[in-house]
Amino acid sequence: AAPVQYQAENATISNGLVESNHAGFTGSGFVNYDNEIGSSVEFTVNAAAAGPANLTFRFANGQTADRPMDVSVNGSVVASRLSFPSTGAWTSWTTKSTSITLKAGTNKIKTVATTSNGGPNLDRVDVDAQGGGTPDTV
Ligand code: GCU
Repeated sequence: AAPVQYQAENATISNGLVESNHAGFTGSGFVNYDNEIGSSVEFTVNAAAAGPANLTFRFANGQTADRPMDVSVNGSVVASRLSFPSTGAWTSWTTKSTSITLKAGTNKIKTVATTSNGGPNLDRVDVDAQGGGTPDTV
């Protein structure tokens, strides 16, 4: 199936804000994580069947320091301190991918800031589920 896009501004945000002041985002905005450890965005992703999936996060990081985040799926960390390096400007957006496994039905994919800088500005995640994905209804 084609990748399904899940906008960060529609996800469950803990200690972050939806903003739209840096051009180049898709949808209606992006999430600006609070500059602290533990700020997070959680996506609800539906998969038609269990199986491997590729996640592609679209983000910007206008500062020089990396903003690594832990990626968890259904409560288990599957990518520890995944790197979200500088993109040079808050208007320069790029992608970062990682492979996961989804279960059939509802999955929770959470990205959690691991440094006091918080996460990068997060535009969306594209989920390419080999078992099949359906659009987010949350
Ligand atoms: C700036 C920028 C924000 C960004 C923030 C940060 O304030 O305008 O979009 O999220 O820096 O450092 O996280």
